[in-house]
Amino acid sequence: MNKVIISPSILSADFSNLERDIQKVKDAGVQWIHIDVMDGHFVPNITIGVPVVQSIRKITDLKLDVHLMIENPQKYIEPFTKAGADILTFHYEAVKETEILNTINKIKQFGVRAGISIKPKTDPEKLIPYLKYLDMVLIMTVEPGFGGQEFMANCAEKIKIIKKYAPQNLIIQVDGGINEQTGMICKEYGANSLVAGSYIYKSSDIKKAVLSLM
Ligand code: DX5
Ligand code: ZN
Repeated sequence: MNKVIISPSILSADFSNLERDIQKVKDAGVQWIHIDVMDGHFVPNITIGVPVVQSIRKITDLKLDVHLMIENPQKYIEPFTKAGADILTFHYEAVKETEILNTINKIKQFGVRAGISIKPKTDPEKLIPYLKYLDMVLIMTVEPGFGGQEFMANCAEKIKIIKKYAPQNLIIQVDGGINEQTGMICKEYGANSLVAGSYIYKSSDIKKAVLSLM
């Protein structure tokens, strides 16, 4: 099986000990961390913003996989890329159809990899025209907004559709309710990147939890 990129979501980390908790997943062997940005409009929660990403950039060389769950993401591409994002993912539902390609291109112009994400109710076929321009597709297997929710198995089925149309080097990432069992299902369907927050950070053995997803 190809190597799977594990992206621990720091949403479930201890925010008063972020550096320590980022180091813990690095020690467990990951190369990415997932940073959930929420604005209280696109989703009913507020989390991390540009200054925090900037601070994280200073204390780690891990790839910063930034998941924007915000309205009007175009407005924040420059601040987040300058803050140090390596992969910037926005939501399909947050941008007008006529602006999707511009948004992807704008992210890439900053030398950052571009991803697009779909919520549980969004049809994966909507993304087919954009796959060749994207570096990553992020399939949500929970309603975005909070960590620790239950995996929606019907959403994982979308992986197969994206996989069918995906160019060879597209990263297919899954986020929401990922643990050893649900992660296995996603990998079988063709996902090559798994986000996991509570499964990793609430585990008593972080290294073991990370390895069980690989
Ligand atoms: C939810 C976020 C996720 C979240 C996942 O809106 O996008 O990245 O941290 O948390 P778990 O792995 O606990 O479902
Ligand atoms: Zn996320």
